[in-house]
Amino acid sequence: MDKKEVKLRIAKLRKTIDYHRHLYHVLDRQEISPEILDSLKHELYKLEQQFPDLITPDSPTQRIAGLSLEKFKKIFHKTPMLSLEDVFDKEELYNWEKYLARLEPQKTFEYFCELKIDGFAVALVYEKGNFVCGATRGDGKTGEDVTQNLKTIESIPLKLFPFGGEISQALKNQVEDLIKDSRIEIRGEVYMDNSIFEKVNRERRKNNEPAYANPRNLAAGSIRQLDPQFAAKRRLKFLAYGIATEHGQKKHSEEHQILSCLGFRTDKGTICRNLDEVIRFWDKAFQKRPKLPFQIDGVVVVINDNNLFDKLGVAGKSPRGARALKFPSQKTTTKIKDIKVQVGRTGAITPVAVLEPIRIGGAMVTKATLHNQDEIERLDARIGDTAIIERAGDVIPAVSGILKELRQGNEKKFIMPKLCPACKSELLRPKNEVVLRCPNQRCSQKLGKLLSHFASKKAFNINGLGEKIIDRLIEGNLIQDSADIFNLKEDDLLSLDGFAQKSAKNLIESIQKTKKISFARFIYALGIRHIGEETAVDLANFFGNLENLKKAGIEELSRIHDVGQAMAKSVYDWFRNQENLNLLEKLLKNKIEIFNIPKPKNILSKKRFVVTGTLETMTRQEAHQRVRFLGGEISHEINKGVDFLVVGQNPGSKLDKAKILGVKIISEKEFLSIIHFKEK
Ligand code: IVH
Repeated sequence: MDKKEVKLRIAKLRKTIDYHRHLYHVLDRQEISPEILDSLKHELYKLEQQFPDLITPDSPTQRIAGLSLEKFKKIFHKTPMLSLEDVFDKEELYNWEKYLARLEPQKTFEYFCELKIDGFAVALVYEKGNFVCGATRGDGKTGEDVTQNLKTIESIPLKLFPFGGEISQALKNQVEDLIKDSRIEIRGEVYMDNSIFEKVNRERRKNNEPAYANPRNLAAGSIRQLDPQFAAKRRLKFLAYGIATEHGQKKHSEEHQILSCLGFRTDKGTICRNLDEVIRFWDKAFQKRPKLPFQIDGVVVVINDNNLFDKLGVAGKSPRGARALKFPSQKTTTKIKDIKVQVGRTGAITPVAVLEPIRIGGAMVTKATLHNQDEIERLDARIGDTAIIERAGDVIPAVSGILKELRQGNEKKFIMPKLCPACKSELLRPKNEVVLRCPNQRCSQKLGKLLSHFASKKAFNINGLGEKIIDRLIEGNLIQDSADIFNLKEDDLLSLDGFAQKSAKNLIESIQKTKKISFARFIYALGIRHIGEETAVDLANFFGNLENLKKAGIEELSRIHDVGQAMAKSVYDWFRNQENLNLLEKLLKNKIEIFNIPKPKNILSKKRFVVTGTLETMTRQEAHQRVRFLGGEISHEINKGVDFLVVGQNPGSKLDKAKILGVKIISEKEFLSIIHFKEK
């Protein structure tokens, strides 16, 4: 390709990549697999290396900016970044409206409500549509320049572009004009999904590092790292909630439409004509809070008319025309009545505080986890203590502190038992672990937990088969393993107290309905230690079917992205245990039908590879196998039909030939990322 052609190709690639980025990172949809997107990015990167003068700051290749900074520059906010006055109940909300009515007696008020994301605020500046600078809030007047780090966030567009959506022609014209404006400043919240937060913390606990308190702290910490590689790894997100510059926007709701059309993530929000509607929005948000993938700490309500909002002005550091409607606290104090231990599905013994019942964030709480013996000692938690209980989202409540100053002297220390509370087996504490375990494969409590996990929503999702019923089925000797669930008959259930003809029939029906299951759910359902929902998806995508997963060696498993050593060993061991293999056979005999995944087999479809030289991480044979497994083809010589030449150590003449023919040349490292492997 000559330079002109390259330029065209680069423009096309950027547009396509940006289209799919927006689809995936803003709209949560996907038209092509991430691998294909990576291969497009890779092609772009190669072309830009060839013609460095064609690199522009908005190119997708510039998201992981290379160098780490010495320190952040200070940025002065042209419009101050304010905070919001909190409102905790309806009465305070009505008082706010009375206050507004005193200031503006003539007006009726229209409000706009949206979710209040628990992240941290940043301001993004675009000049003529190009992202030029991003800053933290700081003290509201001056923040820090964190542009480099913000660039790693895929939901922040590097170049503004009217992505469309359902908007009127007038608004569309407005957006097109706005992009051309010399300066646009967007305000919003950087945050982290709960799943990423939990993953990072799991990793930290494993390495004996202190865990982060909440996703907000971790997100804020990541954005304030001087090396942008950190931020890039944390998969942060950005949600826009306002435009700080003047472009003729009349309503806050209009700003939301504009932001979404510009390609930002936004909360759709709702226009409310009165405070009753506001309260309804607040209630609904509170109910959906546990199901959201990120943390929210309330709802923001704003006067929808921008003129009026500006006219109302600022009191102290907060605008008069907006309020943060907070949710009831997720933290409270109560007495620890007792400490008991529970056996988990993998045999882990968890101490649990039995509490004086208390309401936290709308739900009654009677128990809170103390995690393990080390945690009890760290907190110095004793029976009779007054404890701080915290609950985040739908996570189980935990004891997070003890108010020692309230002790009366009769509090009792707790010592972990030596025997399993259910089956009385001697508990073991494996080397380098903080958790005690019950080693008995047939321990009834362990089995109960394992089967509840099997039937749970994210696994087989058997409606009506909860922990209590499972425990009774085990007690009544009606089931001994998960496969037995599928052999249950109505009569079996009728022999248990509390089942009537109808409820028995319903449960059997819902069991039979769940026999078809995706491979990822099936893996998750097995309850293999360390294998959560996400890893189950990774494994399913990688291996495609049970036979492949069964055969996998530790080496292969641990080379999959996001699968650590401990996980790999756990999966490997699970499939080497005869009892587990018998169970699998029994499940399949009971007509469990697993939907295998054809997709990963085809991610390299029609791509032809040649491998030359010695690879470090695998033999050439293995590389060929892997390419074929993913639907790609292997060729032994270079010609125009070859898409990639993978180059190892001491390559031969194939490399020269590839250069002459313009075949794309990739390193082993790049090859590994295409085939989902990580470096050794
Ligand atoms: S509007 C005058 N909308 O809450 C400030 N803020 O307590 C206008 N926040 O600093 C902010 N989600 O970091 C607004 N949908 C949302 C928000 C939101 C989170 C944060 C923001 C602000 C803080 C104020």
